[in-house]
Amino acid sequence: MRHSLSVALASLLGALLPMAPMAASAQEGGALPVIFTPPADREIPSGPFGDLVRKGERIFTQTGKYAGKYVGNDLTCESCHLDRGRKAYAAPLWGAYVTYPKFRTKNMKVSRLGERIQGCFRFSMNGTAPPLEGDTIRSIVAYSFWMAKGAPVGTPLAGTGMYHMPAATRHPNPFHGKKVYEARCALCHGADGLGTSSGGEVAFPPVWGPRSFNRGAGLAKVSKLAGFIKMNMPLSKGDTLTNQEAWDVAAYVDSQPRPADPRKKS
Ligand code: HEC
Ligand code: HEC
Repeated sequence: MRHSLSVALASLLGALLPMAPMAASAQEGGALPVIFTPPADREIPSGPFGDLVRKGERIFTQTGKYAGKYVGNDLTCESCHLDRGRKAYAAPLWGAYVTYPKFRTKNMKVSRLGERIQGCFRFSMNGTAPPLEGDTIRSIVAYSFWMAKGAPVGTPLAGTGMYHMPAATRHPNPFHGKKVYEARCALCHGADGLGTSSGGEVAFPPVWGPRSFNRGAGLAKVSKLAGFIKMNMPLSKGDTLTNQEAWDVAAYVDSQPRPADPRKKS
């Protein structure tokens, strides 16, 4: 399975990377927030509902294979929503499920969860929106619903969304960011940012270039990308970059070429 391959490779490569001093821990100074624990896989019921949940999980982790006609790049949902959508501060599905319908300034509308998922297909996956009432969206919503089992509705849970970065102490600098990228990221994502594959399968996803997320995506905003990187990258070594390093490397990655925002194509 692609997932286990990249995770195995990642821990191998991760061991080779220098550890940064734990200077600016995001948790520093405050009590650790309580983070919701989603149910274990074995709790997925048998029967039609469980089948839908499992289908949602397959689409989420192998998006190109199970929803390929809506995907326009080399990413899967899990490329950003880590640990199959379970990881806190990587926009986990359990956190999302209980906060929709939600007002979004992006389109100045109250969106349903299905509409939010359509957005990730268009922008983060550089593809097209699957129909709201179709099987693809329905099964991802079912997977999200199941994952939020036992969570309070309408109460924002710690770890929901991406980590909200404190303001940078100096303006994010892509030239500094390039140095951070070369030292801490290039080993997996490639010096050219185009990711790496093995045996025709994507091992490490591209972080820029024609097969990455487009300019309309959440991570195309430097603040969102910095928050994602701060808590999640290098893979399995989240919270080891300083805030300034996360800002700088995000500014560098977002300064690189990538597909246009489809809303701005003329
Ligand atoms: C390139 C990275 C990336 C990929 C790939 C991606 N997403 Fe997202 N997704 C994001 C970001 C960034 C957000 C915004 C999180 C926030 O607001 O802090 C988001 C938000 C969401 C949300 C709402 C979360 C919330 O708390 O409001 C859902 C649900 C979601 N994505 C589902 C998906 C699905 C399903 C796929 C695959 C079809 C997918 N995403 C692919 C980056 C990505
Ligand atoms: C040990 C290997 C490894 C290192 C080092 C690493 N990453 Fe990643 N990164 C991954 C993997 C694997 C994923 C996808 C996770 C998945 O599919 O489960 C990922 C996902 C991402 C994503 C979201 C998906 C995409 O392709 O856009 C971004 C952005 C990203 N990494 C940026 C970085 C940055 C910046 C650094 C350096 C600070 C870094 N990564 C270091 C392995 C790594």
